[in-house]
Amino acid sequence: MMFGFVTQFFLRALLPAVAVTVSITAEEVGCFDPVTSPFNKNDWLYCQKISSDDHEVFMYYTPLEDTVLLGFHALKNTEGWTALGINGNGGMKGATFITVREDGGDWIAEDRHAMDYVMPALDDQQDVRLLFAKQENGQTAWGVVIPQNSCDSDGNDYEILDRMTTMLWAVGSSHTFATHTARGQFQANLMQAPKELPSTDELPYFEILMPNVTIKMGEGGTDPTNPYICSYYDLAEIGQSSGFAPEETLHVTRLSAVLSPETKEHVHHMILYACSTDGFSYNGTKHLTVIPECVSMPADCREMKWPWAVGGRDSIFPEKVGLPIGGAMNRFLVLQVHYYNPTLKEGMKDNSGVRVYYTTELLEQEAGVMEFVGGVNSFQQPPLPAGEKSVSISFTTPSECTRNVWDRPLNILGVLHHMHTYGTYMEISVVRDGVNLGNLRPESHYDFRHQSMDEPVPAIRQLWPGDQVTQTCVYDTTNAPGSFVEFGDTTQQEMCYTPIYYYPRQTDADSFGSLIPWLNSSWCLEPATSEEFQSSNSSLCAQTMYENVPLFYRFDKEGELTFDLLTACSGGNEFQDLFYEFPDLCPTCRVTANCTHDDVALHAQNLCATLCNEVNGLSLYPDMNRTKPYQYGNWGCSPTYYHEPYVPDAPVCQARGNANIDFIQLNGIALLDIPNDTLVEANSESTACRKAVIVATCILSVGATLFLSVM
Ligand SMILES: *[C@@H]1O[C@H](CO)[C@@H](O)[C@H](O)[C@H]1NC(C)=O
Ligand SMILES: *[C@@H]1O[C@H](CO)[C@@H](O)[C@H](O)[C@H]1NC(C)=O
Ligand SMILES: *[C@@H]1O[C@H](CO)[C@@H](O)[C@H](O)[C@H]1NC(C)=O
Ligand SMILES: *[C@@H]1O[C@H](CO)[C@@H](O)[C@H](O)[C@H]1NC(C)=O
Ligand SMILES: *[C@@H]1O[C@H](CO)[C@@H](O)[C@H](O)[C@H]1NC(C)=O
Ligand SMILES: *[C@@H]1O[C@H](CO)[C@@H](O)[C@H](O)[C@H]1NC(C)=O
Ligand SMILES: *[C@@H]1O[C@H](CO)[C@@H](O)[C@H](O)[C@H]1NC(C)=O
Repeated sequence: MMFGFVTQFFLRALLPAVAVTVSITAEEVGCFDPVTSPFNKNDWLYCQKISSDDHEVFMYYTPLEDTVLLGFHALKNTEGWTALGINGNGGMKGATFITVREDGGDWIAEDRHAMDYVMPALDDQQDVRLLFAKQENGQTAWGVVIPQNSCDSDGNDYEILDRMTTMLWAVGSSHTFATHTARGQFQANLMQAPKELPSTDELPYFEILMPNVTIKMGEGGTDPTNPYICSYYDLAEIGQSSGFAPEETLHVTRLSAVLSPETKEHVHHMILYACSTDGFSYNGTKHLTVIPECVSMPADCREMKWPWAVGGRDSIFPEKVGLPIGGAMNRFLVLQVHYYNPTLKEGMKDNSGVRVYYTTELLEQEAGVMEFVGGVNSFQQPPLPAGEKSVSISFTTPSECTRNVWDRPLNILGVLHHMHTYGTYMEISVVRDGVNLGNLRPESHYDFRHQSMDEPVPAIRQLWPGDQVTQTCVYDTTNAPGSFVEFGDTTQQEMCYTPIYYYPRQTDADSFGSLIPWLNSSWCLEPATSEEFQSSNSSLCAQTMYENVPLFYRFDKEGELTFDLLTACSGGNEFQDLFYEFPDLCPTCRVTANCTHDDVALHAQNLCATLCNEVNGLSLYPDMNRTKPYQYGNWGCSPTYYHEPYVPDAPVCQARGNANIDFIQLNGIALLDIPNDTLVEANSESTACRKAVIVATCILSVGATLFLSVM
């Protein structure tokens, strides 16, 4: 099917009359357009339009046995170098680029990589071979062959796998490789035909759109070129116009980004969160209330429902699977939009957001958002030292844990990495039956500005009960001010966090997080010091909690606030907020307002037993069963504490395909059923090609140089 390649190109090259001189109007041109496209269906299996803007770019690709043919075709406005990038996120950081340009009269293809927003450097090992290239009247077309897995770790090359991943294209103004004049990101699976998105005609939907917000950093923000703005949405309100009841649960089947035409290039990423009414005082909150500076989400609105980044396609759930939103517990949603405004353009209003397709007839299965939380606050990770090029933390959810909490294998739909600005790398390795299956989602360099939800690698399409999951986050704190970087919500603090779309949803068993003991261990293990507490054999923990609640729970770092537990449990409305945070803080006598010292002291001792056990992994005085702490805490698990799990080595990279292989070396390795006449017609010296495994390699040796000289 793909072997007419040489003939087609060769003949076309010899017949300039066929060459493209026709002027093109955007709407008419599609993939494999017989007039404009030098790519034909015999040689190139697949085509995907990757940009409709100024350059109108198409990507052509053909997966072969262990290589991939990659083609680029821009219809307009290209005068210099052009590139396709294969990367883990859509940004420059960690991207590997194939750049094609003219160099001293010859066309060359280069394998480059970028670790930051800098000029992509040449890889030491060049894993690309040019098949052909041409540029005429602003149009550019080229084809290359690349291996499916080069194992070139220095150059960050990505293994080409059967998964949807984020890619990019870029064009420059001249043939001297320099900063791009335009670029874009898109998603593709180079091993499969592009998937047509199913029609949405039949589906009911509502839209959650930013209420005409001004793109401008709010008070308290730190980077005016990167405003983060949020808005609240009340499903009770939306239900009135859409026809569902205020507390009805909806099953979302598809989420599509809606971008305002005038401002779309400034919408960098959007995340839809659900708020939990449990603990969320929504009385003051209204539909379409805007939070002008919203790098940190409101505390009760953190359940991620939809992450989207530039170039992201619709999130479509499999048949019979719906993502639940709404219901009594999730009446409010918050949309966070990260705008990018590098030139500080003023007065722009934005109405972007998401179209939510849903059904009220609940589907068989619910999708969930699983979370691995290496750390989002100072209770989960100690601060990172500043001034270090590479600081790594790692957090494991042990095998016993997932075996106890998951009731079946879970299908993984998408994986997002989230750290803040010091984050450079994240990896999630999965160990099953003692074997390390590798990294769930490859991304060679993390980029805060390009957080994309990508599919897992084919080897780990499911997570099974009993899998051990290790999340590793790496930071570069060289430029951090002060001595430490704390874990926390603000952009200047750090996180190590991974939300994962999956199904079927595991109620209450899909969030796992590291835990550092925050109680002073001697509180658990030592007797009380005051006579009152000693006489009842109580612990120092119960006494400390009783005497100073804010100090005990560390919610008043300045130490300005002091009250004891009896006061709190006998007190009035001023403590309402406290009981939202800590609903079990007082015994039931709080309700009837007749708590005694003894009631509260006994309750403190009981609370301490739970806390010492679950927060520190210790028993509570006078019980001295467990006085030595475990090494590892995970709040999503039962039991909570483990000794540090063993992580076997990751599988060694297995190279697949080689762009530089010479056809002569391939001669005789294997016979493919290639029609005898095709190649001969192109070049009679090429009979050896008929015996090659990789047809593309033959083409190189036979047609490419000839073809190029004709160009
Ligand atoms: C947004 O605000 C501008 C200026 O106030 C107004 O002209 C425009 O009509 C508004 N658009 C929408 C969709 O509300
Ligand atoms: C909200 O208001 C209702 C009625 O005024 C009240 O019963 C409820 O306690 C309030 N909820 C919160 C979280 O303040
Ligand atoms: C822990 O508590 C004991 C008893 O109150 C105290 O002496 C010790 O300094 C505390 N340790 C820390 C690290 O705060
Ligand atoms: C306190 O604990 C000790 C040792 O476990 C025990 O002998 C004693 O009876 C206990 N006293 C009270 C008042 O419970
Ligand atoms: C507190 O009040 C409740 C209800 O009136 C009563 O059942 C309970 O015995 C009282 N407790 C004390 C210690 O007086
Ligand atoms: C401590 O040991 C005793 C006796 O073996 C047992 O009854 C008790 O349940 C243990 N406590 C904990 C917290 O394990
Ligand atoms: C190609 O030629 C060889 C020998 O000349 C012959 O055996 C083979 O059947 C031919 N293959 C096809 C597909 O025509």
